[in-house]
Amino acid sequence: MTKTVNYKVSLGKDSYPIFIGKNLLKSLKNHIPNFYNYSKIIIVSDSAISSVNELLFKKYLPQNFNFKKIILPSGEKIKSFKYLEILTEKILNIGIDRTSLIICIGGGVLGDLVALASSIVLRGIDLIQVPSTLLAQVDSSVGGKTAINSGYGKNLIGTFKQPKCVIISTDLLKTLKKRDLVSGYAEILKYSFIKDKLFFGWLEKNAKKILSLNTESCIYAIKKSCSIKSDIVSKDEKENGIRELLNFGHTFGHAIESITGYSNKIKHGEAIFIGMYLAIKFSIFLKLCDEKVAINYARHLNCLGIHFKLDDYGLNISYKEFIKHMKFDKKVKNGKMKFVLIKKIGVPVRIFLEDVRLLSIFLKNELK
Ligand SMILES: NC(=O)c1ccc[n+]([C@@H]2O[C@H](COP(=O)([O-])OP(=O)(O)OC[C@H]3O[C@@H](n4cnc5c(N)ncnc54)[C@H](O)[C@@H]3O)[C@@H](O)[C@H]2O)c1
Repeated sequence: MTKTVNYKVSLGKDSYPIFIGKNLLKSLKNHIPNFYNYSKIIIVSDSAISSVNELLFKKYLPQNFNFKKIILPSGEKIKSFKYLEILTEKILNIGIDRTSLIICIGGGVLGDLVALASSIVLRGIDLIQVPSTLLAQVDSSVGGKTAINSGYGKNLIGTFKQPKCVIISTDLLKTLKKRDLVSGYAEILKYSFIKDKLFFGWLEKNAKKILSLNTESCIYAIKKSCSIKSDIVSKDEKENGIRELLNFGHTFGHAIESITGYSNKIKHGEAIFIGMYLAIKFSIFLKLCDEKVAINYARHLNCLGIHFKLDDYGLNISYKEFIKHMKFDKKVKNGKMKFVLIKKIGVPVRIFLEDVRLLSIFLKNELK
């Protein structure tokens, strides 16, 4: 039997635990702090995990408690005002009060939307995240960022709302489509590049095991990722400094998602694989890092059969379009673009780009 691992996000009175293990939904109630203090619990989940829902409602949840269920469609399109309205109306229609709890069981898309809704209904009610994709288990469920997208850019509308706890059950991953599983690996790889060269070494040996859902390897990678993320978030909850490091690859990646209209052409993690590669190449272009970093990155992903170039995804984006979309990123300050780049694996650097022409020259050359 695999042991449940506990990890804590330290944020003073808003601190919360992360539970990582297998089959945790069977004992979901036991992981919910102050369970019996809640007047009502609303479980919002994704239509893609209906089998999990059935088990939950028929078997795992105590039958003598007031549970309600909301199921939303899947896809990045639900990170919109339209679905925020639909969801908040559904929640209010159920009839909640300030002692109600929302549990979100889903991927990063649902997690971002539900967390935003939970932060604004009745000016905020408690939330628990039960991430059901690899990406959500290693990244989006931890840290308290909520968001919907705008025509102007990705995640431009949102709040900060920390959950009461995060319950990560690796068995949920077994129904994930391969493409979604691989997409989640992007954020795991990101942590190694921004923080931990040894972890990259471990990934070189074990990534295949993660992608074939070996429980021990998944739990190790999820724990490592959550610990890196929560350490950073604990130091800089509202992203005034080092939390920006978590955006490695995202300035380029978000532009790709925005240009492709948040469609199924490219998943978030896939955009981040490309975004990290461009960030590494841009670091080399600016003479911040050695060509070897790009070689290691490419070799690792080639070994896994993971694509990291625009061409591989059938995308053709002009440098002008790229720059236009990058300018709407949240990392732009006083009109200057901010980038998270890399010196070596494990050693990131944040820079303001004084001369945007450098980016034009780089992209013009890189995208031809
Ligand atoms: N808030 C944050 O800090 C943060 C961090 C990183 C990414 N994100 C956001 O996360 C989103 C991407 O998340 P994602 O990759 O989880 O995508 P997703 O939520 O769209 O999930 C991918 C697909 O898997 C399906 N799915 C979910 N769980 C499943 C399961 N257990 N079995 C089978 N199918 C399942 C979903 O329906 C969807 O079709 C992006 O919108 C990104 O911006 C947020």
